[in-house]
Amino acid sequence: MAVPALEIKDLHAWYGESHVLHGVDMVVQPGEVVTLLGRNGAGRTTTMRAVLGLTGARKGSIKVDGVETIGMPTHRIAHHGIGYCPEERGIFASLSAEENLLLPPVLKGAGQGMSVDEIYAMFPNLAERRNSQGTRLSGGEQQMLAVARILRTGAKLLLLDEISEGLAPVIVQALARMIHMLRGKGYTVVMVEQNFRFAAPLADRFYVMEHGRIVEKFGAAELEAKMPVLHELLGV
Ligand SMILES: Nc1ncnc2c1ncn2[C@@H]1O[C@H](COP(=O)(O)OP(=O)(O)O)[C@@H](O)[C@H]1O
Ligand SMILES: [Mg+2]
Repeated sequence: MAVPALEIKDLHAWYGESHVLHGVDMVVQPGEVVTLLGRNGAGRTTTMRAVLGLTGARKGSIKVDGVETIGMPTHRIAHHGIGYCPEERGIFASLSAEENLLLPPVLKGAGQGMSVDEIYAMFPNLAERRNSQGTRLSGGEQQMLAVARILRTGAKLLLLDEISEGLAPVIVQALARMIHMLRGKGYTVVMVEQNFRFAAPLADRFYVMEHGRIVEKFGAAELEAKMPVLHELLGV
């Protein structure tokens, strides 16, 4: 088996005194699309933030492409080719779409990132809107831009936090096509999702979190059989 793109073992994380993650285990193989499901407050965002060293204290093991990163500061972890798209998107209102796109530095030592032309070919509406100010972009355009921006950096492991949240169904469909395209290009994707209908057809495997722990994990082939459990855990 290949070296996992991401291998988390017995991860604990804290915000100040508050112990949020209680021994998370998760393995993501290169090229997989994995979805992290859970109710609000389960610890999904914290798991992503902990991978990047953005929580308070953290303990355990987080290997990225086989390299232990638990002792590293955030800027060094990012250099191992992780692209993080946070829940709040972080589009700068005063910059144009293209300036936002060009903002994150290209990672040295990571793989070849997508060129601006390739990104515009993949997201034609961003090409049309390249000179529009960040604030003038629709929620969907901002979300596309937030993902497109990390593709330029050369990151091959993408951590996407609730990208479908609050967006119209037609935009959610476009995001689903985008995930398919990224899988086709060999990206590894970890998606946090509340929108089960969006995540279900996209993911190769699923993890379910509750109270800072993984309580279920299964592959796409088991999804049907797991529906009663998911109904109980997530209300889907
Ligand atoms: N910055 C923070 N400081 C303190 N507690 C936090 C902070 N962010 C999240 N938490 C707490 O950590 C727990 C997990 O939150 P989070 O990871 O955001 O859950 P999810 O993304 O699954 O909704 C919640 O109990 C939440 O209140
Ligand atoms: Mg969250």
